[in-house]
Amino acid sequence: MASNSTQTIVIPDLGGAEGVEVIEIAVAVGDTIAVDDELIVLESDKASMEIPSSHAGTITAIHVTVGDQVNEGDALVELELTEAAETGKEESEEQAEPSSPKQQETAPEQSAASMETVETVEVKVPDIGSESAEVIEVLIQAGDKIVAEDSLIALESDKASMEVPAPVSGTVLEVQVKVGDTLSEGDVIAVVEAHLSAQPETQTVSETQKPPLSSEPQPKQATNKPVAAQSTTVMPATDLKEVYAGPAVRKLARELGVDLTQVRATGPRGRLQKDDLHNYIREALSKAREGGGAIPAVPAVDFAKFGEVELVPMSKIDKVTAANMQRSWLNVPHVTQFDEADLSVVDQLRNDWKAQAEQREIKLTPLAFLLKVCALALLEHPKLNSSLHHDQEHFVRKKYVHIGMAVDTPKGLMVPVIRDVDKKDLWQLAQEVIELAEKARQGKLKPADMQGGCFSISSLGAIGGQGFTPVVNTPEVAILGVSKATIKPLWNGEAFMPGKMLPLSLSYDHRVINGADAGRFLTFIVDALADIASFEKDG
Ligand code: COA
Repeated sequence: MASNSTQTIVIPDLGGAEGVEVIEIAVAVGDTIAVDDELIVLESDKASMEIPSSHAGTITAIHVTVGDQVNEGDALVELELTEAAETGKEESEEQAEPSSPKQQETAPEQSAASMETVETVEVKVPDIGSESAEVIEVLIQAGDKIVAEDSLIALESDKASMEVPAPVSGTVLEVQVKVGDTLSEGDVIAVVEAHLSAQPETQTVSETQKPPLSSEPQPKQATNKPVAAQSTTVMPATDLKEVYAGPAVRKLARELGVDLTQVRATGPRGRLQKDDLHNYIREALSKAREGGGAIPAVPAVDFAKFGEVELVPMSKIDKVTAANMQRSWLNVPHVTQFDEADLSVVDQLRNDWKAQAEQREIKLTPLAFLLKVCALALLEHPKLNSSLHHDQEHFVRKKYVHIGMAVDTPKGLMVPVIRDVDKKDLWQLAQEVIELAEKARQGKLKPADMQGGCFSISSLGAIGGQGFTPVVNTPEVAILGVSKATIKPLWNGEAFMPGKMLPLSLSYDHRVINGADAGRFLTFIVDALADIASFEKDG
């Protein structure tokens, strides 16, 4: 008779959390389960928890599906009780809560408000299985309301990574650690105004915690955690279980429908952070806006199979450059136009002004002249001094002329911007070229020094080469590539005369600029360089 009795198991007290998402259903209709068997897994933005069964029996119905948002008291499963279960639990009520969520051992259902005490406690680092570990993520801030088992910080030692869960529920008063700190057992993480039930064991907040939450990267589960030497060359994981991310990031990914295995992690030792997700989505949106889809990834190759290799970490600048270049290359239909400018007049002027240059202690290279004529060309051809508006329905015409110049530095390519080039004379420009190039090489450029460019010049003249196709520095729409000037025979109508010819290549965004615009612009530059004396009387 007892075996015919049914029981509705409902969602228990979730420690105050509401609308918590079902991320996994661990049972199926027909399953026979014992008391404390896991029924479902819930995950909020702060923690995940397993809901165990309070009764033994056979599942006859499941009332939730993955993705549902549930609250305390919601029907979870229908159970046909086994005899033992019934005799064990004599209650005849129609609904029963399962046992408390597994990690909430200090929050029993009956923790009535009257039994609660408020106390200020220091939450300390528990036994972490090694002497010390580095803080790689701080997940709380002062003022946060936390529920017992919420992740507070993520730690990583040389052997393992783990999230430290809150031992109590309450309000964070003060966070005493920051990313990069090295912590040991007993160090204070935060001060919390804790809501404690009057049970002695809940007072001991610094004592051993339960292991990190079920879907969290456990020390031994961080299978995709590369060794330190590889820490900056993390590839996306191939299996979701291998993804090294906390519950908040996983939850956000699920909400946004992002496959975390596709997201490149930039956190310490390959940990996926919220920013990584945002960057991934931003790039995906920008590709979609431009009509582009996903591009097939280049398959990973084990180069070591073919000979000795060395893994060299990319610098931050290398990574930024790679991302910018790829974005530009994928978004911008590039066309490159070539021409040659006669540098004889520029050389003549540099020669004439040698004494002045020495006196001013400024080295006047062809670059200052190029900056000057490019500014004139941009004023004359405003289409080249524009950007595509992100609404894709306007061009943004700039009334200022700021020009970026590519500088080769030991840490990678940087493009500082010279402001108001049209308003500066050759000496000022030459001076700024020297100063900014120096700053770039010393790694002293500030973000503001590299922003606001309208157009760029990439000069490889001092290095060599007859021509190249530079990549547009988006959102700019054109870039001038400068190669090495060489003496060439020039026909003057009667005879060949030697001329110093400067190869120029203009790459442009064909969405904004057509070939005729670019042709006129480059011709203007070529003519202006030959006629620079009429613009610049004495520099
Ligand atoms: N053709 C021939 N010679 C040239 C030249 C050209 N196009 N441009 C410069 N030179 C000469 C200069 O006149 C100078 O010679 P000098 O001392 O006899 O007068 C010499 O080459 C060295 O010039 P440099 O000190 O490099 O100054 P610059 O003003 O030409 O360039 C930078 C300054 C910062 C742009 C340059 O040093 C640099 O970093 N270039 C690399 C840019 C880059 O990496 N681009 C790649 C982007 S994809």
